[in-house]
Amino acid sequence: MGNMLARLLRAAIPAQRVATTAAPRSPWWRTAVVYQVYLRSFADADGNGIGDLQGLRSRLPYLAWLGVDALWINPHYPSGGADGGYDVIDYRAVDPEYGDVADLEQLVADARRVGLRVILDVVPNHTSDQHPWFQEALADPSSAAASRYHFAPPSEEPPNNWRSLFGGPAWSRTPDGRWYLHLFTPEQPDLNWRDPAVAEDFERTLRFWLDRGVSGFRVDVAYGLFKDADLRDNPGTYSPTLFGHGPEQAMTWNQPEVHDVWRRWRAICDEYDEAMLVGEVSLADVGQVALYSRPDELHQSLAFRLLKSPWSAEDYAEAVVEALDAFGEVGAPVSWVLSNHDKERKVTRFGGGDVGTARARAAVLLMLALPGSAYVYAGDELGLPQAAVPDEAKRDPIFFRSGGLRAGRDGCRVPMPWNETRGVGFSTDPDARPWLPIPEDWGRYAVSRQARDGGSMLTLYRRALAQRRAHPSFAEGEASVSRQGDVLTVRSVGPSGTVRCVVNMGSQPVVVRCPGSVLLSSTTRLPRSGDGLALPPDTAVWLSED
Ligand code: NOJ
Repeated sequence: MGNMLARLLRAAIPAQRVATTAAPRSPWWRTAVVYQVYLRSFADADGNGIGDLQGLRSRLPYLAWLGVDALWINPHYPSGGADGGYDVIDYRAVDPEYGDVADLEQLVADARRVGLRVILDVVPNHTSDQHPWFQEALADPSSAAASRYHFAPPSEEPPNNWRSLFGGPAWSRTPDGRWYLHLFTPEQPDLNWRDPAVAEDFERTLRFWLDRGVSGFRVDVAYGLFKDADLRDNPGTYSPTLFGHGPEQAMTWNQPEVHDVWRRWRAICDEYDEAMLVGEVSLADVGQVALYSRPDELHQSLAFRLLKSPWSAEDYAEAVVEALDAFGEVGAPVSWVLSNHDKERKVTRFGGGDVGTARARAAVLLMLALPGSAYVYAGDELGLPQAAVPDEAKRDPIFFRSGGLRAGRDGCRVPMPWNETRGVGFSTDPDARPWLPIPEDWGRYAVSRQARDGGSMLTLYRRALAQRRAHPSFAEGEASVSRQGDVLTVRSVGPSGTVRCVVNMGSQPVVVRCPGSVLLSSTTRLPRSGDGLALPPDTAVWLSED
C-alpha cells in the first residue's frame, strides 16, 4: 500500500467539526453555491458588445432556474482596462460601460426577490495608475498620496529583485525617474497598507456597497496588501509553473500584518445582515490559506488546488483531504473551485472533446458533493471549451507582457451563448461586435438548446444543484474520503442520511456497490453489474445508501 493511500484510508474527516458547536446554525455562505459572473461577457443590454448590469439583471431568471445561491460579479468599477477591470480608478462607482450605481442597486434588489445574493469583487492590493491618488503622487512626490504607494528615489537599479506576476520586473519608473512597485502590470501600482489612509478608504468602500444591499465581497489578492517592511530581496523568483506563491517569495506575500485587515473587515461585515468575505489566497501551503479564514477573519478563502490538479484520483484525493483537514482545523467551510476567469476552461484542461467533457461532468459532480461551499464559473454549466482567440483580438496583459509566450486568459473570458440566433443572443443588437470574438459554432453550446436536452451539461448542473439541495448531507455532512486505485469515493453522513459520490478517474470500468438508489450520474450509460453498477471511465455517480 502506497503512503498516499495509507494516508487517505486513515482520513475519516469530520468536515464540519466546529460548525455544530460554536457557529450559529448554518449561515448561508457555509454551503452556498456561488456563480461567478464575468460581467463583460455575460449579457449585453445596451447593444455595444460589452456585457453590463442590466444585461445580467435580465438573466436573473436563468440563474434562479439553474439553482445557485449567490452571484459574485467580477470588478464593475471605472477602470483603466489594463487587467480586465482589476485596475480600479474609483472604488465607489460603476464603470459607465456597465451602467451606474442605481443599476447595481436594482440588480441587487431583483436578485434578492428571486433568492439570489450578490457579492462584489474588491481589489485592495493595487489601484489603477489613473486613480486620483496615483495621479497626485506622480505630480507631487511630497504629497500625502505618494505615501499610499511604494515609491523609491531615482537610482540605477530597482530597489529589490521582485518580479511582476505577469512577467518582467515589479518596478517601473515614473517620468521623473522614481521607482514604483507593481506586482501585476505597471498600470496597477501596489498600495502601501502601512499608511492608515489606505485602510480607512477601503473601509468606506465596504460600507458604501454594503449600504446598497450587497451580501459581501470576493477579495482580490487577499494574501498581498502588506509587503516586507524593508522591501528586502526575495530568496527566489516567481515562476508561472509553480503551484502557488511559496517561500521563494516570502518578502512579497503573506505578511502577518494582513490578518488584522481581515479582522477589521470581518467586524464591518458583522454589522450587516449576513454579509460575507471570500478571499483569493493563492499560497502554495493550504494550511496558510486556511489561516485567512479563522473565525474572526475572512468567512472563506478559496481552495484552488482542484483547479490546478491533473485528472488523477491520487491528486484529487490529496487535494480534497488536505483542504478538508486544513479548513476543518480553523472551523471554516472549504470553498471549492474548479474553474475561474484566470484558468483554462476545464473541458479543455481535462483533454478537450468527448473525454474532456466527460471528465468535466464527473468533476462537477465531485465538487458539488463535497462539504462546504462551491464556486461555478459562468459558462462552465454549458461545457464551454477554451476559445481560440486570435492574437490580434487578445486583451490579457499576460499575453503581451510575456511577449506572446503565455497564451493569456482571454480564451476563458469569451461571451456567453444564449441562443442559436446570429450573435448567439449575447447582445440585444445581433450586429454588435462582441468585445472578444465568439467562435462561430458556439450556438451548439447555447443555453436555449441545452435547456431542452436532457443529456446536456446544463441539465446535469441543474439536476446536481437540485439534488444537492434535496440531500443536505452532501454540503453539510461529515465526509470521509477514500481512494482505491483510480476510484475516489466521498461518503457523507448528515441530515439526509448517508450519501456517496464515486468517481472513476481511470481508463477501465469499475463495479460500484449500490445498496440504495442512484441519485444522479454524469453518464446515461450506467448498467447494473451483479448487485452493483458498472461505472465507466471518467464518470461519477451520486448514491443514497438509505
Ligand atoms: C486575481 C484576479 O483573479 C486576476 O484576474 C487579476 O489579474 C489579479 N488578481 C490582479 O488583480
